[in-house]
Amino acid sequence: MLILERLPAIRQNILLFCGTIVLSTVPFYSHAISPSAEIQTETVTIGESTYEIPEPWIGNKIPEPSLASSKFKMIPVDHTKNGTKLFITEDAHTALLELLEAAKEDGITLKIESGYRSRGYQKKIFVRMLEEGRDFDDIIRYVAPPGYSQHALGTAVDFFPSNWQFATLIDYEWLRNNAAIFGFTETYSKNNTMRYPWEAWHWNYTRQN
Ligand code: DAL
Ligand code: ZN
Repeated sequence: MLILERLPAIRQNILLFCGTIVLSTVPFYSHAISPSAEIQTETVTIGESTYEIPEPWIGNKIPEPSLASSKFKMIPVDHTKNGTKLFITEDAHTALLELLEAAKEDGITLKIESGYRSRGYQKKIFVRMLEEGRDFDDIIRYVAPPGYSQHALGTAVDFFPSNWQFATLIDYEWLRNNAAIFGFTETYSKNNTMRYPWEAWHWNYTRQN
């Protein structure tokens, strides 16, 4: 009895087998769930085609916030690739400017390649890539399906270059050591538990105000 009281408070079956207590983590009710009830599908429609959302995205849809345009601020163009006009939300912007300044003091000029992207814009990326002949399953390795991207929150940025080379740069090392001070998190870190492909360049402002 004492042993049972010390067990973790998870639902466990206790079976008596040849006088031995056998613990099983299979819930009692598992047989009652029909296979169809367990399989949840999610889809996204792009152009004429509807695609099933696979792992790791399924179940991780991000509701698109309704953000007034006044909530956005432009990232200084001297910190964007080719001087592109990129926007993020006000809070993330304030923190990003502090981060960029601190990096500069350490001799690192960070550039940003992508900021806020609406769900519609994310869809456009897919349309273009599909037209280029890429497969949906190939694209989603590094581009979130529309509705699943943190870029729609207005808090995520992609540093330049947004490809595997970024992980080899001192810029990345600097972010790994310092970004958290400013509230930025590497969402798709190497060997992340959610099994997203590693994206060293993608950082999201996660500080709650
Ligand atoms: N590249 C990340 C996964 C995005 O598209 O949001
Ligand atoms: Zn990104």
